[in-house]
Amino acid sequence: MRARSPLGGRIFVRCFPMPDSSAQSSAACETAATGPGTVWFVGAGPGDPELITVKGRSLIERAGAILFAGSLVDEAATRWAPPGCSIADSKSMTLDQMAAWLVLQAQKHRTVVRLQTGDPALYGALVELVQPLDAAGVPVRVVPGVSSAMASAAAAVESFTLPEVTQTVVFTRVEGRTPMPPGESLAELARHRCTLCIFLSITLLHKVQAGLREAGWPDDAPLLVVHKASWPGEERIVRCTVADVRERCREAQVVSQAMIIASPTLGARQWPQLAKSKLYDPGFTHRFRRASDAPQGAEASSPLTDTPQDTPR
Ligand SMILES: C[S@@+](CC[C@H](N)C(=O)[O-])C[C@H]1O[C@@H](n2cnc3c(N)ncnc32)[C@H](O)[C@@H]1O
Repeated sequence: MRARSPLGGRIFVRCFPMPDSSAQSSAACETAATGPGTVWFVGAGPGDPELITVKGRSLIERAGAILFAGSLVDEAATRWAPPGCSIADSKSMTLDQMAAWLVLQAQKHRTVVRLQTGDPALYGALVELVQPLDAAGVPVRVVPGVSSAMASAAAAVESFTLPEVTQTVVFTRVEGRTPMPPGESLAELARHRCTLCIFLSITLLHKVQAGLREAGWPDDAPLLVVHKASWPGEERIVRCTVADVRERCREAQVVSQAMIIASPTLGARQWPQLAKSKLYDPGFTHRFRRASDAPQGAEASSPLTDTPQDTPR
């Protein structure tokens, strides 16, 4: 059943034919015991409903109310909501309306979920929404999600880091209506020649091209554009170059929901020679493995021993 929310968003009510969200109650949904319930900001992942975390899914399964980012999160992500759960699409709500809806639901339910695309820490208005909840005394928790940047690398079987090529990844965007802070223009970031995951910029490809060129990237430098990474049956991968990115994306009709990746690592799967990771080098000693040719006691004296960031997890 679908109804119009008084706050502007569509309300989806599962199972019970009730006229609005205020009429919800269900044994399957937890209700607030004392004080407001907790609003959980849950990363829904990049699109494939199976890429939500187990924790995110179990919160949905016991949620009394879910506010999801309808423009980006596949509705399928709400398929685990319990009967009677109030489900609203935030697509047409303002930030104030979203905050008001979440505060209202936290007064009724112990578990309220704000479902966001990818990971909530990236371009998700997380802090803007948390502040009014803090002001209203509503407890907030965050569950991370698989970002579309990671899903795009996975789709194309690419690695963002390679030994002796780049060890750095930048998440950025080009300037649209949101201004870029000083020092963060694409040209400035691209001078590092590291991996750049460029969000929210598929309609601004001319700026992507200009920024990379200004930073000295050659016209034949490879780029990767992934549309709807991980979405079952909808994912599209465009391999192109700085010179032809606009043409290739136009041909592929990729005009929205796309990740642009510029990286010196792209295409490494086909390289004849790779500098190998030290971690798996037979001559490299670390906490979990002694080098095959290491002298007795080398482990204890190695400066790398017990360096947590150099040990496999
Ligand atoms: C508002 S941001 C949200 C990013 C999200 N928090 C994340 O971690 O992926 C939306 C942008 O993320 C990228 N995006 C989101 N989902 C995507 C997907 N499935 N495939 C490719 N890009 C995606 C696009 O660049 C889109 O413009």
